[in-house]
Amino acid sequence: MNSKKVLAAVMAAAMFAGTATAFTKVTAADDSSSKSTVIFSTSFEDGDVSAFSNRGGGDVTVMADSTEQAKTGTHSMKLTGRTKTWGGPSINVSKLCNPNQQYLISLSYFCPWYSDAQLSMQYTDESGVDHYSNLGKVHAENSWGDIESIKFSFTSSMSNVQLYLEQTAEGSYVDDVTIETVPEIAIQDDIASLSDLYKDDFKIGTSILTSNLADKPFMNLVKKHFSGSMTAGNEMKPESVLVQSKSQENAANGDETMPVVDMSSANDILNYCIENKVPIRAHTLVWHSQTPNWFFKEGFKDDGAWVSKDVMLKRMENFIKLYFEALQPYIDKGLDVYACDVVNEAWTESGTPRNARDNQTSGDSSAWVKVFGDNSFIEPAFEYARKYAPSGCKLYYNDYNEYYSGKRDAIVKMANELKAKGLIDGIGMQSHLAVGSPLAQYANNSPSYLKALQQFAETGLDIQVTELDVTTDDTSEAGLKKQAEYYGEIWKDILQYKDHISAVVLWGVTDDQSWRASRLPLLFDSDYQAKDAYYTIADLADSEPITTTTTSGNVTTTTTTTESISTTTTPAITTIDLTTSTTETTVTTTTEPTSETNTTNNKGNINVKDGEVSLWGDADTNGEFSISDAVFLCRGLTGMVDIPDQGRINANLYQVGTSKNVIDTIDSEYLMKYLVNSVQKESLPITK
Ligand code: XIL
Repeated sequence: MNSKKVLAAVMAAAMFAGTATAFTKVTAADDSSSKSTVIFSTSFEDGDVSAFSNRGGGDVTVMADSTEQAKTGTHSMKLTGRTKTWGGPSINVSKLCNPNQQYLISLSYFCPWYSDAQLSMQYTDESGVDHYSNLGKVHAENSWGDIESIKFSFTSSMSNVQLYLEQTAEGSYVDDVTIETVPEIAIQDDIASLSDLYKDDFKIGTSILTSNLADKPFMNLVKKHFSGSMTAGNEMKPESVLVQSKSQENAANGDETMPVVDMSSANDILNYCIENKVPIRAHTLVWHSQTPNWFFKEGFKDDGAWVSKDVMLKRMENFIKLYFEALQPYIDKGLDVYACDVVNEAWTESGTPRNARDNQTSGDSSAWVKVFGDNSFIEPAFEYARKYAPSGCKLYYNDYNEYYSGKRDAIVKMANELKAKGLIDGIGMQSHLAVGSPLAQYANNSPSYLKALQQFAETGLDIQVTELDVTTDDTSEAGLKKQAEYYGEIWKDILQYKDHISAVVLWGVTDDQSWRASRLPLLFDSDYQAKDAYYTIADLADSEPITTTTTSGNVTTTTTTTESISTTTTPAITTIDLTTSTTETTVTTTTEPTSETNTTNNKGNINVKDGEVSLWGDADTNGEFSISDAVFLCRGLTGMVDIPDQGRINANLYQVGTSKNVIDTIDSEYLMKYLVNSVQKESLPITK
């Protein structure tokens, strides 16, 4: 379509904007909300497919008008001749749409064979680096499948923004493509700001993605409730800032130790923080995940040999130095980098280093361990961070599942050693939780979340709750009420240690934008409305602690009689004696949480502890279900690794007969079947 035709299409579409169909995913909160406007729409009835072009890079997909299939009317666009899986029709939305505005795209897809098509977005950043992100998937099998009202947006620093469709089969059809603006929805102005409610206790913050910036109601929620702290959801991770091609140039010129770091992917989030004076947590420097394997390979090549420990130490130092240097121009403009997750997720639940393997093999492996042989990379990481971090930037070790005693103890030991050397300022508790998770205090009165808070507080280091979210499998109204109660229990634990906690950061704002969206883990729903969990947390701000502390020898006893509890610590042991307490937060932290040890019977089965599933199949409890869980489960069944309690609950897919309360090879078989798509997602667990 030439520019005249695009204009005509936009105008034509604008004329029937008032009759745009209602959206299922975005609904207006009140009458003041603006309406959506259709800015592009085609059913190919005029035979014109020229709004779509090849993706570039040698893609030769032929796009042609066709009357062989049609979702509506008699025409569609037929796709043939694709030679690369990533090839396919692309529409350049830089030309059609405005930056910093949110849009919805819908389309229909037909394939005579079993086929999936992936709708993705591609853009070029200011440094000329291309970025790709998945928007949505559609399935067809001699039928039409729909992509309905998927949100997308881009900012003014992104150019050549294209939406494109990759198909897994040859000879497919596209029809009814519509792009429309998202109606602007007002957020609730009659509820209290969480940041304000807790301003005397700790900062309240959140994490966002660049794509959220154009979502005005979303950002209004950020401003209102989460203005205390910001974390970039992905944009400041090693994979987002390390530039392979330029690092390779350095290696080719004889310097194997100098990677290249570019902060462009975080540019828009950093500028937001400057403009809105929101302090940022730099997340993260040294991590096994979202860190490319080539960073550890000779020549910075994917297929290079692993570099030596000496080379990697120098690479690490340069990486950390360059990371902070790349932040300096933003700091000069007023950015407050007040915290940094120097090392993320280095200890397993049993308190051992991860397995020495590349970062992608499985969730429990780490290329850092592969090169260093153990966790000896942690101390130099903190040394370099201390050396190069801007003044005022506190250094944290950050992890999840810290309620497991093995992991918790390993972190405490490491933290005390680093503290003695003046290298660490705090411990981050990610807190990716699930309703009813036996790992938290509330579910079965096991005080493990509280225990982690207590032990971390005893180190004298600062604590930050860095990535709080609580998933629920029951998404009914009753389920969301239970979620709110669970949030409340965790929040009460947090309040007990508020004197040791400088920030509580939610991992996102609205459920639909969460990394665990299907299990609605956040405080606001997809219509930007406060959920029960919000109200529970807001209500807890009113309760003030009444605390009595008595000390006998080196034991301090703190008695608490309200929902919010304060604890005083001595360098020795802290006892919270709540025998006289009148509240349900009654716990005695001198008792270790009852944690079931893995019991492997002689058939190789592993007993399953009762409890709620956090994610079906997620045996290694890294929050994702992938092939690494299958590997982890098999290794667990053969006794090579300990499967954590939650992992055993998650992996118990097959629940009949003798398999009911064990995980065994039937579960691993179904886990594999699910992964190769011969078991549909909806059918987990297998009950028949
Ligand atoms: C998650 C992001 O939210 C996702 O978008 C991404 O696909 C995977 O990583 N622990 C961390 C975070 O430290 O960086 C992770 O963030 C969640 C687990």
